[in-house]
Amino acid sequence: MSGTDKSTQNDGAFFTLTDERDGQQYRLPLLSGTLGAPAIDIRNFYNTSGVLTYDPGFTSTAACSSAITYIDGDQGILLYRGYPIQDLAIHSDYMEVCYLLLYGELPSPEEKATFERDIKLHTMLHDQLMLFFRGFTRNAHPMAIMVGVVGALSAFYHDSTDIKDPEQRMLAAYRIIAKMPTIGAYTYRYSLGRPFVYPKNDFSYAENLLYMTFSVPTEEYVPNPVLVKALDRILILHADHEQNASTSTVRLAGSSGANPFACIAAGIASLWGPAHGGANEAVLKMLTEIGDKSRIPEYIKRAKDKNDPFRLMGFGHRVYKHYDPRAQIMRETCHEVLAELGIKDDPLLDLAMELERIALQDDYFIERKLYPNVDFYTGIIMRAMGFPTNMFTVLFAIGRTVGWVAHWKEMIADPKIKIGRPRQLYVGHPQREYIPLEKRQQTEIRGWSRLWGGGNKNGK
Ligand code: SDX
Repeated sequence: MSGTDKSTQNDGAFFTLTDERDGQQYRLPLLSGTLGAPAIDIRNFYNTSGVLTYDPGFTSTAACSSAITYIDGDQGILLYRGYPIQDLAIHSDYMEVCYLLLYGELPSPEEKATFERDIKLHTMLHDQLMLFFRGFTRNAHPMAIMVGVVGALSAFYHDSTDIKDPEQRMLAAYRIIAKMPTIGAYTYRYSLGRPFVYPKNDFSYAENLLYMTFSVPTEEYVPNPVLVKALDRILILHADHEQNASTSTVRLAGSSGANPFACIAAGIASLWGPAHGGANEAVLKMLTEIGDKSRIPEYIKRAKDKNDPFRLMGFGHRVYKHYDPRAQIMRETCHEVLAELGIKDDPLLDLAMELERIALQDDYFIERKLYPNVDFYTGIIMRAMGFPTNMFTVLFAIGRTVGWVAHWKEMIADPKIKIGRPRQLYVGHPQREYIPLEKRQQTEIRGWSRLWGGGNKNGK
């Protein structure tokens, strides 16, 4: 593992817990990393105390040690292998960031050129895999297709599924990173009934993504450099984000020894949720539903109402309790893209800016430190570039693939790897006697069958 792996070293500090039921004390080692909060090593706590720790949602739990990405939520800091996201967004490109996340260091010019060429050698899909798209309805959600096709890669690339072989692990990583834009673009073309176009090796990663998505076979496609740069920046900003829900899903799936393609498919499924990667699509739907600035107060009120499930999409974050640094970069990119496309007064952008202004002045959001996150502006940019809203999370998945793969590789390469198997606080029935069918009384109408079983709503 690159970087200084201090995570399993205890620097002589300890945490002592006292069980007030019997006065027993437990002295637990304090582990410190390179940056950020230290962690109490509770790996032997249950075995010695018979007591579990309880943390649904892992708000206070470090599930692993990692040297890939660091976030300081209070300071709004995001580092990929130690490099600030702002520097990478301005000076780097997505291929260089992929190399950095995978190998831990910035590439030399030769290493970068070789890496880009090697990725390009894997951008095509097996011809039979192209048939998989045809099994979906034309209006299938692109994320449904992406989950299916990426999982199906396991059936084609058997020479890169032996996770014990570092060579095969890296080959699988290259293949997945290379093929995601092709798969993503094809989900869009399939929905339109447009023929698939093969990637072109003289295009960059972002140029190819735009080309495979929007080109028409009857015309030459000339990528717009401003849009290419904006898309490359979106991919950089989405590349990794430490132990978010989808990355944790990939790690948990990978801990069982599942092959990398299946693990990435699991990550795609988790990313799809509106609380996570599906938020960019949800932001656009929300802005469209609000429709007019005059209706913002009504939606702010709903967002605060505990009895209303509505939340302000694109606001809040589990870790960032300050402005998401990625949102700031996306805000600037948004204006660049709209200017390049000659979109002077985009009503949704105006609405978004007004919503941001009002929300950032509201005590509810201020007290809970709910700031715009990365998804708040990306949807407006992607829509301006011509992507339909149901493709937004596909683009997020394409960018995040290198993060998923880097975390999967980091975990698998760790000789101390254990299968992830959380415990639980059981709140169900204590043990009870079985009652024979003939002796059971019907106490209440239970179960969905009364709705779906063909009977009427009274379950008859
Ligand atoms: C991503 O983890 C990552 O790193 C994710 C991500 C990545 O790169 O991988 O950064 C990408 O997923 C960004 C987040 C995109 N999701 C959204 O924009 C959906 C809207 N946001 C919320 O669903 C929410 O903010 C979460 C899910 C992002 C975070 O939820 P938490 O950390 O579980 O916070 P919480 O639900 O405990 O909220 C704390 C309080 C609650 O109020 P109280 O019970 O304290 O009174 O804040 C409120 C919440 O009701 N709250 C919101 C809100 N988000 C939190 N209220 C209104 N609107 C919101 N958006």
